[in-house]
Amino acid sequence: MAVIRAASTSLTLLASTSSSSPSRYCHCCPSLFTKFRFGPILNISFAFKPLSSRKAKRMAHSTARATLGLTQANKIDPPKISFAAKEIDLVQWKGDLLAVGVTEKDMAKDDNSKFKNSILQKLDLQLGGLLSEASSEEDFTGKAGQSTVLRLPGLGSKRVGLIGLGAAASATVAYRNLGEATAAAAKSTQASNVAITLASVERTPAESKPVIASAIATGAILGTFDDSRFKSESQKPALKSVDIIGLGSGPEIEKKLKYADHVCSGIILGKELVNAPANVLTPGVLAEEASRIASEYSDVFTAKILDVEQCKELKMGSYLGVAAASTNPPHFIHLCYKPPNGKVKTKLALVGKGLTFDSGGYNIKTGAGCLIELMKFDMGGSAAVLGAAKALGQIKPAGVEVHFIVAACENMISGTGMRPGDILTASNGKTIEVTNTDAEGRLTLADALVYACNQGVEKIVDLATLTGACIVALGPSIAGIFTPSEDLAKEVFGASEASGEKLWRMPLEESYWESMKSGVADMVNSGGRQGGAIIAALFLKQFVDEKVQWMHIDMAGPVWNDKKKNATGFGISTLVEWVLKNSS
Ligand code: BES
Ligand code: MN
Ligand code: ZN
Repeated sequence: MAVIRAASTSLTLLASTSSSSPSRYCHCCPSLFTKFRFGPILNISFAFKPLSSRKAKRMAHSTARATLGLTQANKIDPPKISFAAKEIDLVQWKGDLLAVGVTEKDMAKDDNSKFKNSILQKLDLQLGGLLSEASSEEDFTGKAGQSTVLRLPGLGSKRVGLIGLGAAASATVAYRNLGEATAAAAKSTQASNVAITLASVERTPAESKPVIASAIATGAILGTFDDSRFKSESQKPALKSVDIIGLGSGPEIEKKLKYADHVCSGIILGKELVNAPANVLTPGVLAEEASRIASEYSDVFTAKILDVEQCKELKMGSYLGVAAASTNPPHFIHLCYKPPNGKVKTKLALVGKGLTFDSGGYNIKTGAGCLIELMKFDMGGSAAVLGAAKALGQIKPAGVEVHFIVAACENMISGTGMRPGDILTASNGKTIEVTNTDAEGRLTLADALVYACNQGVEKIVDLATLTGACIVALGPSIAGIFTPSEDLAKEVFGASEASGEKLWRMPLEESYWESMKSGVADMVNSGGRQGGAIIAALFLKQFVDEKVQWMHIDMAGPVWNDKKKNATGFGISTLVEWVLKNSS
């Protein structure tokens, strides 16, 4: 296999050294060093110097396309909540809302209808028995998802809320839900100061307290976030401060809370990227967002954005085949994280599918349930990768180098687009007969994976909204993972335990490769419906160096929450946990 190095003409974007000034250099015209300023996120209003080069015109064109429909994203600040871990008496706590997480067990009462749990007992005593009375009237039993907020006199807090944790809370998800439910209660009561505790704090082992506190904080931040950028009216969240009571205090827990805040800022960016419609978030704008991360954390990141010409030099025929139909040009994104002290023990790559829209191409998505109207989310893999980059830019782990790679483009239809039956040549020299233009994600990932291997990394994790078949197999909330490496499977499963994101390992059944054979090329890109997620993963495997540990995550299901009609931010916290596992 030919090793292809980035051509010397590829440009390294020098991130601005001042983090307070969001300005940097235009990567499409380095010789002119045109400086442009960024508006708020996804609100792209650049002031360009007049440029005559072809590249500059293309850039200006992609910018113009982004305003199709005249939509401008409103700037919304991510929730700024201050967290404090305190050890104070609940009865004394002064504020708007005191939320207590209770399990079904905690709700047990004695023969006199009094709480057995000491914390609930104490609160009830202070409230003259109204807490036990009201909770039974409201049928509150502590089941997961139940919550009740009561306006009762007698405490330092204006209101007290009981939030159900289920039979016996153990997983981080239960505590995240507690934070989220508290944020919802704060929203509906316009509370700005809340305190959160658990009825069972006295029985909670000291070593799990910081993890629980950070899960609660995560839930509170994400529960407060509301993506209203594209609504003409929006309400500012009232919630300003959260005291986490009874779960310890001091530097260890403060560090955990800060970590939660960093991860949440990455998750929020990821959600915003996925929620943004394809007329606003073009491949060019996705590249701008990536460059913005690099300039914000310029002490640890460098960014390289390749245009069509540079991708051609790297022979990325598979990726460029997909991009060919669109008037919005492709942008190949490569961020590199290096730790502050420079020492590197492990090199990793995170590769994300970045289809800002997937129409299907000539094999256009038609018919009920094809979800064409949701195909803005087909860059969910890249959102996970860039969200993780943003979090890691703040956490700054030691000992790891991380490459963030996205072959961003649109799958559209036009006279310049690839036809079914066309043969593409990928950057590792392999040829692909395009039997279905809608199996485009794997074509873009093929060149991205070859590029990742050429960075000399030991491990690669790719994330993609790759197949409808994976949703059929695992439903909407579980991602399929595919890897030949037992070690990598263990690492990523470990990471997902901490993050609470659901993964299920699927087989890389080599005998299924049969259906991917072509009569005229090295392979086809679509081998039929049976085992669709598996054969897609086998296709990707053709582009990964055997010496590199590799995992593919098909997140077609969990990228989107159908009920909330919103992005989930899936993948980000697992990726961050995984990178930290590899840090030293
Ligand atoms: N982006 C889709 C996969 C997808 C479909 C994600 C529905 C989420 C919801 C992907 O590009 C695609 O179209 N895959 C095809 C592959 C087939 C043509 C082999 C699919 O799954 O139908
Ligand atoms: Mn497709
Ligand atoms: Zn797709």
